[in-house]
Amino acid sequence: MLVSDERYACRPGPGMSLRRLRLLTGGESHGPKLTAVLEGLPAGLGLDRGLIDDWLARRQHGFGRGGRQRIEHDVVAVSGGLRDGRTLGGPLVLELANLDWKSWAEVMDPWTTDAGLAADRAVTRPRPGHADFSGGAATDQLADMRNVLERASARETGARVMAGAVCAQLLARYGVGLRSAVLQLGPLVVAEGPPSWDGLAGVRSDSPLVTPHPDREEALVEAVRAARAAGDTLGGVVGAVVRGLPPGLGSHTHWDRKLDGRLVQALVSIHSVKAAAIGAGLEVAGRPGSEAHDPIRLVDGRLTRDSNRAGGLEGGVTNGEDLVVRAFLKPISTLRRGLPSVDLPTREPGATAWERSDVTAIGAAPVIVEAMLALVLADELLAKLGGDAIADTDAAWKALCSRLEPWWRPE
Ligand SMILES: Cc1cc2nc3c(=O)[nH]c(=O)nc-3n(C[C@H](O)[C@H](O)[C@H](O)COP(=O)(O)O)c2cc1C
Repeated sequence: MLVSDERYACRPGPGMSLRRLRLLTGGESHGPKLTAVLEGLPAGLGLDRGLIDDWLARRQHGFGRGGRQRIEHDVVAVSGGLRDGRTLGGPLVLELANLDWKSWAEVMDPWTTDAGLAADRAVTRPRPGHADFSGGAATDQLADMRNVLERASARETGARVMAGAVCAQLLARYGVGLRSAVLQLGPLVVAEGPPSWDGLAGVRSDSPLVTPHPDREEALVEAVRAARAAGDTLGGVVGAVVRGLPPGLGSHTHWDRKLDGRLVQALVSIHSVKAAAIGAGLEVAGRPGSEAHDPIRLVDGRLTRDSNRAGGLEGGVTNGEDLVVRAFLKPISTLRRGLPSVDLPTREPGATAWERSDVTAIGAAPVIVEAMLALVLADELLAKLGGDAIADTDAAWKALCSRLEPWWRPE
């Protein structure tokens, strides 16, 4: 078996959140473009541009999105690391143009802004629920918090989705698949409890709110209309399931490498996501142990479980069952009817201003959740398998499968 590369195995230093891959995103919401630099993929991995664009289209989707989505037509442009559809081993540089840039060019110019226009669009009343005040305090940019919100904006998730779509293609090579859907919109519950692989099968690509239950669609759309009419916003819950992961990804030995912890960090890093749960993590807290775990049986020489309350992770390591997560999103922070705030230069109270905004982003969230899962799981798989060339990674995968053969085999 090929040994994973030492230089990737443990990269110390600030910001060590991935083990083998590195992802850096750059760009502002109304700047010229967003960029994702993904480094650490083996050379020779074939990529399908159409799949990346499909994921970008899913991120623009969802009833209740604001006018920005009518301006943008997100498609990936690659400016490094790929030739003839195959990775070259260097950083993969993925770019996403902001078509709205043309309306903001003078305000967002990297060298010289138009002072009058910039003053018109200055943000001086921090919006509750946004990074305006907190990020302005951190970076000494309270005079015009546009300097904060431009980067804090969830437009950045476009860069994550491009990288995630690439990682999902690596996972698919080894038989790992992802599914996701909206389980709850505001107070309307579409599906109770943790999702299952089969339970997420019914999501149609044109579903306005990405629900696995088309009969609930109209009620969800109505709830968004009502929130919009009231000048209000909605959050919700997204569920995702990953099938095909081998047992043994993650670590039971180090707190910062336990896969449950790494996945929750990645999910909660998504804008608006305030909590994440693995399996039936929320529900089992209130149950006796006899109803909380997944008894192990041997059937036809294979380890089998009748339930998956653990959601595919035990001790911070995958156990070969489906990986099951939920992400909980707060309602969008920009309300058309405004929220009380304070104008910082005058210290006077005043309602926040409304700028074109989503009523709910819940329809976009499933693919972003998949992107963050794919990133962390591809990283974990590559940390285990190693390989500078995809043929080496394939050979390590084969060796891993034969070691696990007595207990687990790929679908
Ligand atoms: C896909 C997506 C789209 C979003 N669109 C908006 C929006 O249009 N208006 C808004 O106020 N917040 C929007 N948000 C939420 C904010 O980006 C987020 O609340 C803010 O950056 C503060 O971060 P936090 O909620 O993680 O604390 C969106 C979030 C996501 C995931």
